[in-house]
Amino acid sequence: MEKAEQIRVLRQLLGHLDAGTNVDAGGIRRNPSDAYTSPERARKEWDGFFREHPQIVGLSADLPESGAFFTRDDFGVPLLATRDPDGRFRAFANVCRHRGVVVESEARGQKRRFSCPFHGWTYDNTGALVGLPMPEHFGKIDRDCHGLVELPAEEHLGFLWVHPQPGQSVEAEQRLSGLAPELESWGFGRLVHTGEDTYAAAMNWKLAIDTFGETYHFKALHRNSLAQSFHGNVQAYDTYGRNHRMALCLKSIDELRGTPEDTWDIRQGAFPVYYLFPNVQLNVGLGGVILVRVYPVPGDPGRSVSRISFYAWPDTLSRDPDMIAQVQSTFGAVIRDEDYVAAAASQIGASSGVQDAVVFGRNEPALHHYHNTYREALGMEPLPLLES
Ligand code: FES
Ligand SMILES: [Fe+2]
Repeated sequence: MEKAEQIRVLRQLLGHLDAGTNVDAGGIRRNPSDAYTSPERARKEWDGFFREHPQIVGLSADLPESGAFFTRDDFGVPLLATRDPDGRFRAFANVCRHRGVVVESEARGQKRRFSCPFHGWTYDNTGALVGLPMPEHFGKIDRDCHGLVELPAEEHLGFLWVHPQPGQSVEAEQRLSGLAPELESWGFGRLVHTGEDTYAAAMNWKLAIDTFGETYHFKALHRNSLAQSFHGNVQAYDTYGRNHRMALCLKSIDELRGTPEDTWDIRQGAFPVYYLFPNVQLNVGLGGVILVRVYPVPGDPGRSVSRISFYAWPDTLSRDPDMIAQVQSTFGAVIRDEDYVAAAASQIGASSGVQDAVVFGRNEPALHHYHNTYREALGMEPLPLLES
């Protein structure tokens, strides 16, 4: 993040604190409750945002060296991601070319060969079919045409992108809508993977996204957790096409007062959270980065799964490994046990049918942006801005 931008954001936060103000969306918006309950809407989102849209599936640290692999099954196409002998990130449908069985069932590890559990067809980490038991019994088959189906994959600024449909293109740089230089400046490619978690919840996937969209709730929901270290209801907010960056205001920002601005690090006074369309929240801290990927459960608008990946900056990891473990448990205690509990309660409200809409305040601009972005992507009219 450019130094000038760090200073601008920190100044803005200090200005809000001094004036008792917050970001202002300019009005309120009402979001129809069926955004969270409609099977038809859920089906369109699944197709348009997941099955047929490029996905961030991890960071470079998930494939730290040649021979590393991981698997995912979050967006309709089971994925086998590898780093091949040339160090290149590759993505394949984790589906055997013989009879369609999922080939690799381990979540991650180091392997150069992947053997299908059913009959033992074996593929290498470039997807090539390199082993077929009893070929003389099986019959003639062109091995060159029976490698794993390769998916479009791009490693860009430390992000691993995959398009679930063969023959499509990822175009990662374009997807970032101008955020690329800032994301590049963080050096996400240096991170080290330190852990993973999964939060399954009885709520629409957009309710999980919504919980990351404002700090208005800190003093109530997080009064005994985040409110201890954050100024609630104070944030900076900037949009980049379909993406955005929020800067949450840490109480430690007050220590920057009176110090030279050119020594400021945004992370001393703020906690940047990037949202990358359609389903990624990237939390950037002094110790490391937390990548959250949220997925619908197909066929059920009232359920979703969040995949959480934790990464550390190498210097923090060597200096303070205990801090890394602490971050992981704190994140679970706040996001899973507070935010997602509240969001699942919102799902109960939405499903009850007693209210036709929920309301987004002028201090919740990210919610305005998310939902109008989703609507625009589905060809729907934007939610109108209402005076408040
Ligand atoms: S289905 Fe994979 S080897 Fe037969
Ligand atoms: Fe929260």
